[in-house]
Amino acid sequence: MTLRIGIVGTGWFAGKHADLLAATEDVEIAGIVGSSKNKGDVFGIRYDAPGYESVSDMADEQVLDAVYICVPPMAHGEIERELIGRGIPFLVEKPLGTDAELPQDVLGFMRLKSPDLITSVGYHFRYQDNVERLREALHPGRIGIATGMWMGDMPQAEWWRRQEKSGGQFIEQTTHIVDLLRHLAGEVEEVHAVYASRFPEEEWEQTNVHDIGTVTLKLKTGAVANISNTCVLPPGVGKAGLSFYTREGLWEWTSGHLKVTKVNEESVFAEESDPYEKQTKAFLHALRTGDTSGILSDYADACKTQEVTFAALQSALSGRSIKL
Ligand SMILES: NC(=O)c1ccc[n+]([C@@H]2O[C@H](COP(=O)([O-])OP(=O)(O)OC[C@H]3O[C@@H](n4cnc5c(N)ncnc54)[C@H](O)[C@@H]3O)[C@@H](O)[C@H]2O)c1
Repeated sequence: MTLRIGIVGTGWFAGKHADLLAATEDVEIAGIVGSSKNKGDVFGIRYDAPGYESVSDMADEQVLDAVYICVPPMAHGEIERELIGRGIPFLVEKPLGTDAELPQDVLGFMRLKSPDLITSVGYHFRYQDNVERLREALHPGRIGIATGMWMGDMPQAEWWRRQEKSGGQFIEQTTHIVDLLRHLAGEVEEVHAVYASRFPEEEWEQTNVHDIGTVTLKLKTGAVANISNTCVLPPGVGKAGLSFYTREGLWEWTSGHLKVTKVNEESVFAEESDPYEKQTKAFLHALRTGDTSGILSDYADACKTQEVTFAALQSALSGRSIKL
């Protein structure tokens, strides 16, 4: 059976997903929603798909098995509600919004209208072989402390640099590390964050996001974690990862490698899988068969990651610890 997929968004990541879908057998891109019909039409030429101005226009005209939502954080809400109302499954890029309230509202609406709707969220690192290796080897109860980071440069996208549009770096980008922490070490119960704007607008025009920050997280197991981020580095310079310090040894994960150090023993595993491909396959399999067991992050689970990253912002703004 050929799956007919619609796409919302015409930017970088809409292109990444559209290319993956176009390269998959028995998948057809049915339509593209842009911020204007013309933008959708232009983006759609490569995939022989028509453009639309809104999800409702696309869904009125096309039979859709699912929709990929690839829009910036501030553009979420109405798109998801429209799809839920029509019972159309979706894969949505992280993060789910700029705050935690909107995703919770969407989740409540989903539970009411379409509780079994198939959803997937773009926390693609969960699909890496090395993350699966960590899941098998790490016992959350044996973790003492975890440290993570996302240290990079200031992205070019105008929306990314505006707090009200992106939610800031921790919500927009470092969310990947928070999500991995939850996936591998369990739920978070308290956060305390310190953020600052070290090099404000003189260096980056029209920017109001914090450019440095560090967040301490207390986990339900009793372990603690610290995750820091910055976007002050020069273009192309950066480092991101998550390390676990356990009674059995040290596990250091980056997107390319996993290094395991035990007494008199050291192993390094290069990441060889393409997690985006695995994420796509799991979602398409769920659409075809109804078997969602391969989807490693769904909307309800991603709401919990969003709750942690938004609590960190609230903590940074108020100077208080936030209990979840
Ligand atoms: N999982 C990953 O590895 C990964 C990587 C990159 C981006 N992303 C996520 O994907 C999302 C999009 O990022 P991007 O890099 O493609 O951004 P982008 O700026 O390249 O593109 C965003 C697109 O969304 C469109 N848009 C905005 N509001 C819209 C609306 N209401 N309806 C339709 N289109 C709308 C814009 O016109 C633009 O074409 C972000 O949330 C980002 O975090 C995820």
